[in-house]
Amino acid sequence: MSDPILILDNVSKTFRRSGGAPVRAVNNVSLTVGRGETVALVGESGSGKSTLGRIALGLLAPDSGRVVLEGRSLGDLSPGEFRRARVAMQPIFQDASSSLNPRRPARELMTQALRGQDGASDARSAELLDRVGLSPGRDYLPRFPHEISGGQRQRLAVARALAMNPRLIIADEPLSGADVSIRGQILNLLLDIKAERGVAYLMITHDISIARHFADRVAVMQHGVIVETGPAEAVLSAPTHPYTRQLVAAVPVLEAPAQA
Ligand SMILES: Nc1ncnc2c1ncn2[C@@H]1O[C@H](COP(=O)(O)OP(=O)(O)OP(=O)(O)O)[C@@H](O)[C@H]1O
Ligand SMILES: [Mg+2]
Repeated sequence: MSDPILILDNVSKTFRRSGGAPVRAVNNVSLTVGRGETVALVGESGSGKSTLGRIALGLLAPDSGRVVLEGRSLGDLSPGEFRRARVAMQPIFQDASSSLNPRRPARELMTQALRGQDGASDARSAELLDRVGLSPGRDYLPRFPHEISGGQRQRLAVARALAMNPRLIIADEPLSGADVSIRGQILNLLLDIKAERGVAYLMITHDISIARHFADRVAVMQHGVIVETGPAEAVLSAPTHPYTRQLVAAVPVLEAPAQA
């Protein structure tokens, strides 16, 4: 693949807690995300997906291995260089409230994200809020995170991520916290953003139907190891690894008619 945006090169992470056996959460994982590509990372609970996502984001240092973002190894950067490089890569988490300061209204949360860019203004903030379906955006500017619904908070988190003009979005179960009725809307929003801006995604999900709907490529993780990877449709319709087969068999097909 030419010029990938993100390379995880042989990364490992073991958690050691006093009184417990060490947990090898991520074990020699290599994974590449191309520019504009969407890679879904799937696997059951505890397989190491979030740990790998946190390593990719530079929130957690791997015990060994490298994270290369746009050609630069994160471990080699000074804190200042890291902060600047990190802008290219924005996270979206399951629980938007954890990433939104509850004491700041949407106006300030947006201005903060737009800071350092040309044209940080209420008009620009409102435009981004409109873009994510918080409309009219102007009406949302004075609202605090607790004054909007969970789905609206997730949209605000997406608007904030977009304000940074990312080239890669790392989304860890971005739909799990949202009501079933608005999951589709948020998923479509993420798809539109991909089409409009050519943003690449690392989409962490335990939901195979989301991976199938959203991703170009899928990587299947089990016990800290990637056991299968390939084009999403091919892997998910004809899995070769027994674990992937098991995952696929465990979920109803999205298009299947509802059973009474
Ligand atoms: N900070 C931590 N300290 C100790 N163990 C941890 C820590 N974070 C994760 N683990 C362990 O590492 C393993 C992988 O956890 P991780 O959160 O990456 O899984 P996951 O695939 O994201 O699961 P889920 O689908 O439930 O979110 C688990 O066994 C977990 O208990
Ligand atoms: Mg997780």
